[in-house]
Amino acid sequence: MAENVVVVGAQWGDEGKGKIVDLLTEKVEVIVRFQGGNNAGHTLVVKGHKVVLHLIPSGILHPDKLCLIGNGVVLDPEVFCRELDGLNSLGVQVGPSSLKISRKTHLIMPYHKLLDSAREEKKKGPDKIGTTGRGIGPAYEDKVARTGIRAADVLKPQLMLAKMEKAVEEKNVLFQHYFDQPPVKVKDMWEAIQPWTERLKPYLADISAEIASVHHAGKPVLFEGAQGTHLDIDHGTYPYVTSSNTLAGNASAGSGCGPSALHKVVAVVKAYTTRVGAGPFPTELDDETGRHLQTQGAEFGATTGRARRCGWLDLVVLRESCRLNAPQEIALTKLDVLSGLPQIRVCTGYESTEGRLAFPPQMENGLSQVDPVYETLPGWEEDISEIRSFAALPAAAQEYIRCIEQELGVKVGIISVGPDREQTLVR
Ligand code: GDP
Ligand code: IMO
Ligand code: MG
Repeated sequence: MAENVVVVGAQWGDEGKGKIVDLLTEKVEVIVRFQGGNNAGHTLVVKGHKVVLHLIPSGILHPDKLCLIGNGVVLDPEVFCRELDGLNSLGVQVGPSSLKISRKTHLIMPYHKLLDSAREEKKKGPDKIGTTGRGIGPAYEDKVARTGIRAADVLKPQLMLAKMEKAVEEKNVLFQHYFDQPPVKVKDMWEAIQPWTERLKPYLADISAEIASVHHAGKPVLFEGAQGTHLDIDHGTYPYVTSSNTLAGNASAGSGCGPSALHKVVAVVKAYTTRVGAGPFPTELDDETGRHLQTQGAEFGATTGRARRCGWLDLVVLRESCRLNAPQEIALTKLDVLSGLPQIRVCTGYESTEGRLAFPPQMENGLSQVDPVYETLPGWEEDISEIRSFAALPAAAQEYIRCIEQELGVKVGIISVGPDREQTLVR
């Protein structure tokens, strides 16, 4: 039987999911995004050429694969069209036969983006989440409030316009009386989005049926997660999270297939920790080592360009990621970035007022009230970016990987030693 695989980030996003999805795409026929939107930035490097994808699944660079955008995604029509144009200008042929959008996918409207930035601007100091400003939260709010615009609505202009008018009526109260901003005009917005929504029409499809037919034909499907486990709306570091469920289990609801169709979960783990935006981060480093990780790892956001905060690997956070996603395999990325550090530390527990903790506390902001407990491992000097087998890695790098496997009880099956597709070891 064909094996369907879910790839998810195990930390706070930017683990290298794009690279791993691109790599695993070779073995599958279909790649599905099931949550998030263009808050994601997934980087692919093929023979030195870099492509960043925000909405379109990371399998798109492989010819003859089918890429699907599931109902769990929130889609900005303009961003979608611009991404399509960008790919086509690179010579990657993308059209409705290779890319489909669920009719149930919610659309990000211009007022969602305005609301996202108005909220962030109004918040003060530590209340700011540091969102990507892409309208993600407000679009999901409307979905849950049952006032959202769905992709299929573009086929019914009267319905769509009426829904927009209703949504804007409510939002204008906020814009005018809470955010001190001018009201938004539906007519202007409607006209502005027409060129983009018009172009969505040929891409609309029944994604649940597409997955079922591929599955019944015995062909494998790959589900591509966005963000990371600790940005999950329920299980992440609430309220410093995104607005969707980022866990592997959501691949089922977010695309319209049963959970028994998810055969294998691969958790992508960066060899150290990064975080963009606000929120607690126990192993964060504001020193020479932090700068090493930032510089060597080129840790700048693929979506907003913001500098990513950097720190040691946190096995407490990862222990919970393993419990929440039940991965059978870890893909360890950016191991090359650790080269040149005399010693490497891993956080194996937290000290707290409740004593020693092996899992993150569950109270709001509990993670900001713990002290990491570290184990120190030897570092290595060698550049490992050209190494292609586990046995050829320096002994200290092998020890680091074994330590992760032992602590988490999950095999590290893929090791990434550089951004390029080729810079990968499969064990
Ligand atoms: P994603 O959001 O999880 O897909 O990750 P991003 O693309 O936002 O960030 C990961 C960054 O690390 C990108 O710039 C990748 O090209 C890069 N990258 C991925 N794997 C490796 C690796 O093993 N080594 C190095 N040095 N860079 C990597
Ligand atoms: P990928 O898929 C890293 C973060 C934002 C912010 C919080 C909420 O590339 O790993 P949002 O705009 O979603 O309401 O912002 O979540 N965030 C990410 N951080 N990688 C991402 O995606 C992210 N998507 C959202 O920085 O802290
Ligand atoms: Mg990213």
